[in-house]
Amino acid sequence: MKKPKIVSGFSKLSKRGKMRWLVENFFSNPEEVARELKSFWYGDPQKQKIFDEFSENTVSNFYLPYGVLPNLEINGKMYCVPMVIEESSVVAAASSAAKFWLGKGGFNAKIINNTKIGQIHFEWKGDFNKLFDIFPEIKKCIIQETEHITHNMRKRGGGISDIELLDMSHLEKDYYQIKFSFNTCDSMGANFINSVLEEASKSLTSFIKSQEYFSENERKVTIIMAILSNYTPDCLVRTWVECPIEDLGVFGNGSMNAHDFAAKFVKAINIAHVDTHRATTHNKGIFNGIDAVALATGNDFRAIESCGHTYAARDGKYRSLSYAEIKDGVFRFWLDIPLSVGTVGGLTSLHPLARRSLEMLGKPSADELMMIIAATGLAQNFAAVRSLVTTGIQQGHMKMHLMNILNHLEATEKEAILVLSHFKDKLVSFTAVRDFLTVLRSKKLPA
Ligand code: MEV
Repeated sequence: MKKPKIVSGFSKLSKRGKMRWLVENFFSNPEEVARELKSFWYGDPQKQKIFDEFSENTVSNFYLPYGVLPNLEINGKMYCVPMVIEESSVVAAASSAAKFWLGKGGFNAKIINNTKIGQIHFEWKGDFNKLFDIFPEIKKCIIQETEHITHNMRKRGGGISDIELLDMSHLEKDYYQIKFSFNTCDSMGANFINSVLEEASKSLTSFIKSQEYFSENERKVTIIMAILSNYTPDCLVRTWVECPIEDLGVFGNGSMNAHDFAAKFVKAINIAHVDTHRATTHNKGIFNGIDAVALATGNDFRAIESCGHTYAARDGKYRSLSYAEIKDGVFRFWLDIPLSVGTVGGLTSLHPLARRSLEMLGKPSADELMMIIAATGLAQNFAAVRSLVTTGIQQGHMKMHLMNILNHLEATEKEAILVLSHFKDKLVSFTAVRDFLTVLRSKKLPA
């Protein structure tokens, strides 16, 4: 392997050229690595081209499992939910939670609001009251001058729903903000919002420059940046499950009754509200479900995650996103989460499997997809906390992880059958499986 050189004009190289540079500079076995990278290309070159053009400097595709969560009942409707995730126990856990709630009313969900946010951050040296007084005119001008961008969205029932001027100069010298609220219908709306904001920034600058009402000094505005905010606390969905405590049944092979389970479960949720370390892991479990559906439907999971974590810290302390209570003999478990998603635009129709995912879900609106994603997050959270307060997480987790261990140890099909049967009622660990396989192999199984 040669010492890698600094490369210039890399993005202009052909795909094969990029691959050649990569394998020759970073691997000791370039031919083999090139073959491997190529083996993950799409069979159909036209489809591969679509993938290549999603991003820059693409040399291959990175596979992740595409699984489904069947039997998820939401508001009386049955869904089979696509999930893209590498963690072995996630789909199994969500499926078992979906099945658990199936005979108990299923999951419920409702949209609380679906407002998206954009901001123009600007610097201005002047009297805020003057700006404030003339702001209705600025607003009118912005609305008019962005009409060519908002036209189609308005036809679909969306567009700009509010524009506010905020004095932020107590936080940062000469800093002011115009905060926009949008309805982006079934699209996530990032490109639409950013285009409107950049056009509105020009309107703001030229409006202020042209007004004799402002002093010479006040006629200059510096746009610092214009960009959507991924924090959308008013793009909120609530999802919940509930049933009389007795209907929860028994847990831990009959060792825990429904009342003890419900009390322990609520205590676990309360702990995730008061302890930040636990809250982070607890919410990670929720995002195991949420990210998997977001990815499978071509949505921006980074935006969803950053928004969710900010929302979890909205009162100044990072807390659980889900809640649980026992009231009048009823167990209730719910999740409030902001989810800015789309079912049109972006990757949703370009990625062949994202398109299939949306078809599998019955071509939902963005609101419906918010409910599906939230319910999957809650299902995931229920399954994780149920395991934690009953058997512990490792029993189920390691059972699922067993296949990864077997693959790692290059077990044959025959060996796998014997290992799976041996560990059916035993604690799984890498060492235990390796030791068992060593003994098995020393006995030389017949082929
Ligand atoms: C593992 O990916 C997720 C859990 O840790 C979530 C939790 O602890 O609630 C099991």
